Amino acid sequence: HEEFTKVKNIATIELGRYEIETWYFSPFPPEYNDSLNLYFCEFCLNFMKRKEQLQRHMKKCDLKHPPGDEIYRSGTLSMFEVDGKKNKVYGQNLCYLAKLFLDHKTLYYDVDLFLFYVLCECDDRGCHMVGYFSKVIYLPFAEKHSEESYNLACILTLPPYQRKGYGKFLIAFSYELSKKEGKVGTPERPLSDLGLLSYRGYWTRVLLDILKKHKGNISIKELSDMTAIKAEDILATLQALELIQYRKGQHVICADPKVLDRHLKAAGRGGLEVDVSKLIWTPYK
Ligand code: COA
Ligand code: NA
Repeated sequence: HEEFTKVKNIATIELGRYEIETWYFSPFPPEYNDSLNLYFCEFCLNFMKRKEQLQRHMKKCDLKHPPGDEIYRSGTLSMFEVDGKKNKVYGQNLCYLAKLFLDHKTLYYDVDLFLFYVLCECDDRGCHMVGYFSKVIYLPFAEKHSEESYNLACILTLPPYQRKGYGKFLIAFSYELSKKEGKVGTPERPLSDLGLLSYRGYWTRVLLDILKKHKGNISIKELSDMTAIKAEDILATLQALELIQYRKGQHVICADPKVLDRHLKAAGRGGLEVDVSKLIWTPYK
């Protein structure tokens, strides 16, 4: 397959206080192809070939957070919504950066069509990007008769911040936006292995928590209405856990508390909670 494999071009990047080893090829403009290291401004995400350039840039860049609306703040965590149409260069820079850690996704550099939800840890020096997810802006005519849609295109937690629950926070956040839109959502496919693991963990935890508390029968449709998780994803999750039986022509969900507890334990930690009362947002129009 060698002729199809793009060789990793950039080996490390510097971003804020971190030097990060990259994972994959990213199609930076040709003039960057001769450098192994790139230096990113952690706020506007402009990238440079030399550290001195970055140092000079930092003196004049006056951004201290992503260029968008802060739509969530809880403790030191903030979420910013960046409209790709209004912030093309930022959107493109974010895509170049993200591709360094994404294998298979064809990233669309037509950032006009995307909203970027950028998660930051904030302190007195500014808001430091931890990760983000992107979401396609649906045009009204394309959406007219649909109550479900993709609620996430790409998701990334920057490597220094991985395995701390931020991925699950981002996923939970994408579903909270769907709930506010009154829609059911699902991530765009294909998912990476790490993406699927994170989603499976999230879906398992959310669904099994409900099943544990719920008395009496509950349908997939009801679960979907409560969680904004697409019915197919619910069915696949419960099937993978062998919690679905087919009896007398009907799906029956097993809700044996001991079995649920065992699966919940295996699904790992809950991740960071989204406090919905701190989300100030109205759907995009
Ligand atoms: N090895 C094994 N399991 C892993 C894992 C790893 N390296 N990384 C994540 N997981 C699983 C675990 O079950 C983890 O839960 P746990 O820590 O409670 O066991 C769960 O996924 C999610 O962990 P969390 O800390 O919430 O996620 P994260 O902040 O590490 O972010 C991704 C998860 C997918 C966003 C992150 O791995 C990433 O950015 N990967 C590169 C980009 C990518 O593949 N995106 C998805 C494309 S669709
Ligand atoms: Na470097």
